[in-house]
Amino acid sequence: MQAYSEDPGLQCVSRMKLLNEKNDRNTKVSLSLSELINRLHDAFATDHVNIDYVKDLMASYRSNPLEWKKYAKFDRYRYTRNLVDEGNGRFNLMVLCWGEGHGSAIHDHANAHCVMKILQGELCETRYAWPTKCKNQTEEPEELKELERNTVGLNEICYINDSLGLHRVENPSTVNPAVSLHLYSPPFSTCSVFNKQTGQKSTSKVTFWSKFGEKRNREIQDSRCPEDN
Ligand SMILES: [Fe+2]
Repeated sequence: MQAYSEDPGLQCVSRMKLLNEKNDRNTKVSLSLSELINRLHDAFATDHVNIDYVKDLMASYRSNPLEWKKYAKFDRYRYTRNLVDEGNGRFNLMVLCWGEGHGSAIHDHANAHCVMKILQGELCETRYAWPTKCKNQTEEPEELKELERNTVGLNEICYINDSLGLHRVENPSTVNPAVSLHLYSPPFSTCSVFNKQTGQKSTSKVTFWSKFGEKRNREIQDSRCPEDN
């Protein structure tokens, strides 16, 4: 993975570099996708979840397109979210498909854990601080402060929760698509998206382009909010 910074003040040795170096050392066994899902169910079987163990599990999966291609349904215009497993209501596992240049809005994670793993290509994550003042539309605008940028490569993972700030994810390639596997716990159906220039936030519904490998009907797909993540 490449960690880089445009601003020398930004943190160059990123948390994700450290995370993936740790996982390179700790993950000797690679899991199949179905083994990963089974182990995730076990990990979330009790009320106490060890998120470091969940990260290790996600890192242990080695991308095999034969296992995930049935979930990888692209859209020409926007990235798509495709549900793989509902985790007995404790987590959602999904495949996100990013066409060339597709990216998300800047968003939070609704008090959930988010573990993202690259299955194909690479993604760029830009992390921002929460706005300090502009939490609603009545206050003065404040541009979001960029904290860190990372390029996350094949089989690498990235972790975020709200205590680490906000982020935007994009496929920086103009020629190659990207595919990623995301775990969110607990599952959520809305989150907040933020305007980079003003810090203003708005609520966004998150929806699925397909579920369990089956495309949803056109009406549901067309009702997607343009800013969802
Ligand atoms: Fe995210």
